Amino acid sequence: MTRLPIPVVTNPHFERIGGRAAVERLVDAFYRAMDSREEARTIRAMHAADLAATRRVLVTYFCEWLGGPKDYSAERGTPQLRRRHQPFVIDAAARDAWMACMHEALAEVVPDPAFRRELETALLKIADFLRNTDAGGAARAHPGRPRETTAGQPAAIHHFPPTVPRST
Ligand code: HEM
Repeated sequence: MTRLPIPVVTNPHFERIGGRAAVERLVDAFYRAMDSREEARTIRAMHAADLAATRRVLVTYFCEWLGGPKDYSAERGTPQLRRRHQPFVIDAAARDAWMACMHEALAEVVPDPAFRRELETALLKIADFLRNTDAGGAARAHPGRPRETTAGQPAAIHHFPPTVPRST
């Protein structure tokens, strides 16, 4: 009996976007947008003046999130993004400003509109999950998750390993 070869695709999104070079372009475009957009002033001010270190971490994170090399986990452990973002006041405006920068960056780097939409939808879920303050300033817990998390707690969050919606 002839066996048909079974294609093994382990990292479709990482390959689809164009690998690490494309992720680097995306993150560069993202921070350029954050540096220039009026509504991003508040979130830009949360970051260090020199973005080199953050840029590197974000590139490593997105590579892994998209199904590429797992260097982020190797270097920094589980992402626990909600815990890592606790020091910053993330309200709806901060979330929307972050997404506006990402929207601009995706438009620059990902030509396929369907793929762009998939990524944007997945990133919006994460950005909203990271929101830790209501517009009025009240502390907000993620449903089912205490606001206070402890170091070493498993990242029981819905976006890592990658859960970018798969296209059919
Ligand atoms: C919702 C609005 C967001 C704000 C205001 C925000 C802000 C920040 C800030 C201020 C830092 C620290 C940067 C530094 O150390 O200089 C950071 C780190 C980081 N952010 Fe965000 N962020 C947001 C959303 C997101 C989203 C949606 C993602 C992922 C899809 C993300 C991924 C990361 C990662 C991976 C780091 C580095 C974590 C580490 O230290 O390992 N952020 N963010």
